[in-house]
Parts: sequence; structure tokens; C-alpha cells
Amino acid sequence: MSTKKSVLDLHQMKARGEKITWLTGYTYPVAAFEEQAGVDMILVGDSLGMCVYGYPGTVPVTMEQCIVHCEAVRRGAPNTFVVGDMPFMSYQVSDEEAVRNAGRFCKEAAVDAVKLEGGVRVISRIKAILDAGIVVCGHVGLTPQSSGQLGGHKAQGRTLEAAKTVIEDARAIERAGAQLLLLEAVPPEVAGFIRAELAIPVLGIGAGADVDGQVLIVSDVLGEFQAFTPKFVKRYADIAAVSVAALSEYVADVRGGRFPEERHCYRMLEGEGEKFAAWAREDVKP
Ligand code: KIV
Repeated sequence: MSTKKSVLDLHQMKARGEKITWLTGYTYPVAAFEEQAGVDMILVGDSLGMCVYGYPGTVPVTMEQCIVHCEAVRRGAPNTFVVGDMPFMSYQVSDEEAVRNAGRFCKEAAVDAVKLEGGVRVISRIKAILDAGIVVCGHVGLTPQSSGQLGGHKAQGRTLEAAKTVIEDARAIERAGAQLLLLEAVPPEVAGFIRAELAIPVLGIGAGADVDGQVLIVSDVLGEFQAFTPKFVKRYADIAAVSVAALSEYVADVRGGRFPEERHCYRMLEGEGEKFAAWAREDVKP
């Protein structure tokens, strides 16, 4: 069994040039698979809104849903660094609410860090959460909770001016004291510039290879999420196809009388079967 990494271990991995592996996880069994596979970190992302609940985006996701899934993931992966994703409206209103909600992730679900979206405009929230002694991961570039303002789920930093904005956000997050940073959907040259400049680990999703580690959505990796597949996803399995084939076989077996078989039945205890048969015959006599 591997020992759980701390944020300092993750910093040392960056210093040694070792890539950090990160996946989202939402459930007990998948978290256990991820721990067995040796991932360094699990993100209980608000992408659970789409991947688990079938919402069209992340905005409807609640604190309660995030906490319940973090608890399940913590039970499935007790020795993995778990990051709880702060859902929309859990930190936007005030520093106080941000701290209270970040604290819930730690007290109720024993996460190792919380992640919140935004750069310069959430710096006071990041500082307030850090002041409460909680490890913070920033998230800049494409920030799905505010995708309406960005004009949709679009890559960010694709012009010089836009790249400078992403870089300013990243710098502000490190200056505020956050210990980890996620870059989403930015060009590799912008991501590489940020990785080289920042001392904290810079992880990417759709940000190319020149970062300190990668995260992907596990439902994409396993081929479970079917609504759409972003360009940056590499699919490693087709769980949807395997599942539909298995479930169709079950349906056909039940309809065709091939399930259950003798080996799936609980027989009566020795001698009880005969007694039961005799009783049943008596019982049906007129
Ligand atoms: O919620 C999520 O899954 C994310 C991804 C961008 C990794 O934040």
C-alpha cells in the first residue's frame, strides 16, 4: 500500500521533474480503483454534475452533493491526496462563506485541499481560506462555472492579450499563497511559461505536456460519459460499450429463462425441503 502524499511531496515532485498524476473521482469503487492504479491525487470535481447527475453543466451542483461524493471518495481512497472542488455559489458571495464551506470539505469529508475557480477576482477568498489553515488549489484558464461570461466552454489565452490575463491570474494565485494550480484549456506555450515561472506545481487539463502534471475526468478516461468528448481527452476504455453489452445480455437471459440458474438459488436446509413440500400439499387440500 502506498503512503498518502502531502502537498510538500507534490512540491518535491515538481522540483525533481516527476510528473504528477491526477484524475477526477466521484464514487467509492472508482476511487478505490484509482488508488490501486497509483494516482497521486483525486479531484472530486464539480464535473460530477454532468458525469453523475446528468446536469447540462456544473452550475446546479450543491455543497451537499460535493460533500457526499468527497466522503465516498475518501472511503475508497484513504491513502490518496483528495481535492474537493468548491461548487458555484459556495465561495462567490463572501470570504466568510468561502471559509465556512471550505471548512466543511475538511471537517465532513477529510479532504486534503480545496479547489476554487478564478484568478485575480478570487484572491481575497483564497487568502481567507488559507488563513483558516486549508490547502488551496487555484484554477484558471477556462473556468466552467463562469463559462457564460467566457462565451461558452472555450479555450483561453489564445491571443497575446488573453495569454497575459491568464498569466496574471496564475501569478496572483501563487502570490496569494495557494499551493497548487490547475490550468484548463490554454495553449501549451502559455502553460509552459506559467509552469517555468511558478514554484508551485502547475497541473493541466487541455494545457499540453509542458506542465507538472495532468488531470482528466475519469468518466472520459473510462469511456463512461457519452454526451461529448473534448479534444484533449484520451480514452483508455469503453465502459459504456462493456456495460450496455452486459446489461443487454442480462435482459435477454431473464426474458429467455436462462437466469437465474440452480447455482444462483438458496435451497432449503437439509430435511426442510421435504417438510415444506408435505406442508404445501396439506395446505392446498380442499
Ligand atoms: O470539476 C472538474 O472536474 C474540473 C476539471 C477541469 C478537472 O475542475
